Amino acid sequence: MARGNDAPVGVFDSGVGGLSVLGEIHRLLPHESLLYVADCGHIPYGEKTPEFIRQRCVTMAEFFREQGAKALVIACNTATVAGVADLRERYPDWPLVGMEPAVKPAAAATQTGVVGVLATTGTLQSAKFAALLDRFAADVRVVTQPCPGLVELIETGDLLSPAIRQLLWGYVQPLLEAGCDTIILGCTHYPFLKPLLRDMIPMSITLIDTGAAVARQLQRLLSQHDLLSSANAGETQFWTSGSPENFRNILPMLWKKSDSVRFFAS
Ligand code: DGL
Repeated sequence: MARGNDAPVGVFDSGVGGLSVLGEIHRLLPHESLLYVADCGHIPYGEKTPEFIRQRCVTMAEFFREQGAKALVIACNTATVAGVADLRERYPDWPLVGMEPAVKPAAAATQTGVVGVLATTGTLQSAKFAALLDRFAADVRVVTQPCPGLVELIETGDLLSPAIRQLLWGYVQPLLEAGCDTIILGCTHYPFLKPLLRDMIPMSITLIDTGAAVARQLQRLLSQHDLLSSANAGETQFWTSGSPENFRNILPMLWKKSDSVRFFAS
């Protein structure tokens, strides 16, 4: 299928987390039409095997290609470490943006020389993350903290609940005790916890996430391929492999408006 300038961009995550990236893409590139799949039927990716996630990445990519998407954004750190290399090999000419924890900017920002990383178990255990540390964190101490259970609570949409506050504090406290002045939000769900985090950590601590950088990278790639949209305003369509009703309920809280949500059957 021909993929012209006004073809959409495919974006996916295991759930609502990628909406934090979708928001940045929409802000920077309001003329682009966006297709978003929340793979809620298989959440959390962070506790699945790399092989399982790699297969989900292929399923998502095939779906977006059938829809005529001109580019793909993996709006998920866990899916990127497991699946991006395979997707790049399968579709060498398709513009593709993945994401990984922002180790490089965090290492540049820290004054104490101690950086914390909140991410999924899958991301922190990956060879790709180890390579990132080797490459960019040789001169700083990095304290990693997997956060099992957090993504599931974020998916409820109640971002200030006592349960989420208690779980998050248990993950953040060790980073503060270790002297971190910079904390990487290494999972796309976590930027939605910024208000709660700001309430529990000193203002002097820098929080870093990569949504805006991903949007800029998409802009660069589309421009390089001469694929930036010429439409007046892009539209956004949503699918989920979980309950469309649940997703429809949470969407107005995390996205600017309530849109139609279809069931993604694969
Ligand atoms: N939002 C995803 C990420 O950025 C993962 C969440 C999950 O464990 O499903 O890593």
